[in-house]
Amino acid sequence: MQKKRTFKNLMITGGCGFIGSNFIRFLLDESDFNGRIVNIDKLTYAGNPLSLNDIEQNYPKRYHFIRGDICNRKQMDTIFKSHEIDGVCHFAAESHVDRSIQSPDPFIQSNIYGTYTLLETARNHADQLTLFHHISTDEVFGSLNDSGYFTENSPYQPNSPYSASKASSDHFVRAYGETYNLPVTISNCSNNFGPYQFPEKLIPLMILNALENKPLPLYGDGKNVRDWLYVTDHCHAIWTVMCASNLGETFIIGGDAEKQNKEVVENICEILDRLVPLNGNQYRSLITYVSDRPGHDHRYAIDCTKLKQTLEWRPQETFKSGLEKTVQWYLDNKEWIDQVRTGAYQEWIRKHYYSASGF
Ligand code: NAD
Ligand code: DAU
Repeated sequence: MQKKRTFKNLMITGGCGFIGSNFIRFLLDESDFNGRIVNIDKLTYAGNPLSLNDIEQNYPKRYHFIRGDICNRKQMDTIFKSHEIDGVCHFAAESHVDRSIQSPDPFIQSNIYGTYTLLETARNHADQLTLFHHISTDEVFGSLNDSGYFTENSPYQPNSPYSASKASSDHFVRAYGETYNLPVTISNCSNNFGPYQFPEKLIPLMILNALENKPLPLYGDGKNVRDWLYVTDHCHAIWTVMCASNLGETFIIGGDAEKQNKEVVENICEILDRLVPLNGNQYRSLITYVSDRPGHDHRYAIDCTKLKQTLEWRPQETFKSGLEKTVQWYLDNKEWIDQVRTGAYQEWIRKHYYSASGF
């Protein structure tokens, strides 16, 4: 990969969420990035600053956290100015499809209005900005039948309020590139899994339910297909795109790891049977088929030839090796899990941030 740009002061939005926290860890521990990170996160139910406790301690000069809302223009302006932000990697969003079906409003706010607000702020400080990279999803392309793949040229056809809000944000980012010459890039990734994922998403939910002997609820017939990518491989891909792509480009990212949901859950059960055997029973006996998600997309699958050929990115983990690591991480990190499960992390947030930030 031919490096085209570097960053001194990188704003990462949504850095206390699943992928954002993994990206910050990757940048500081594993990449060639040598600047400062300013992490802006509203700390919704999905934001957990305890996921970055060690990072805060290990990198006091290079990591700075601000509780902030990307919808707050004044706050974003102040941060851009005072921290001399020259790069943005924008993760902050409401991310869970089921929640968007129950209540679309926060998705419109954070994903659409929040992205617009951040773009306006970036436009206002365009003279100091090298890149605005927008993190998006393959769900904007809708659903595939049993054959075919999404590419960078697939038409937008979002089916859920979540994917519609992400599609809208993608369009705004692209439009700001075209209209105002803002230096933008976009990446659309498939399903991520790995450490620090909130246990509302399929893989951590199934691991934690199994460990508590609770039912493992598969929607519909369990045959919907997702293309899974280990989160660190996604982080590596994002950094590659940020450093080496041409301005205005889009890359789609995936793991070449298509699986039916029931296969994913059975694989988790097999790993748990080996690592923490149940007395005379198998974890798969906990699998329960429940009502389907409304508008449930049948299949996502990614052709990421462009990323592989032009930027020489390759995933390091297979689905099998990534799943093994993930299950082991949830077994080894009981403290993080207890804080999330009991809501103790939110109590901690209330104590630490309420009066200081006005939230
Ligand atoms: P997440 O829900 O774990 O984290 C989202 C973070 O954004 C949280 O820390 C939350 O507090 C923060 N946030 C939400 N609204 C905010 C606001 N208004 N201002 C500031 N912070 C706010 O999500 P994730 O799974 O880490 O996803 C991150 C991004 O990647 C999202 O944009 C999502 O659409 C995209 N994405 C996710 C996946 C996946 O499989 N998880 C795949 C492709 C793309
Ligand atoms: O494709 C990328 C997207 O992947 C991201 O943009 C989203 O932010 C992320 O949440 C994820 O969306 P999905 O809807 O695919 O992920 P989720 O983990 O919610 O569900 C994965 C599959 O498992 C999906 O087909 C629904 C199914 N499922 C999910 C849950 C939570 C179940 O069968 N049972 C469940 O309890």
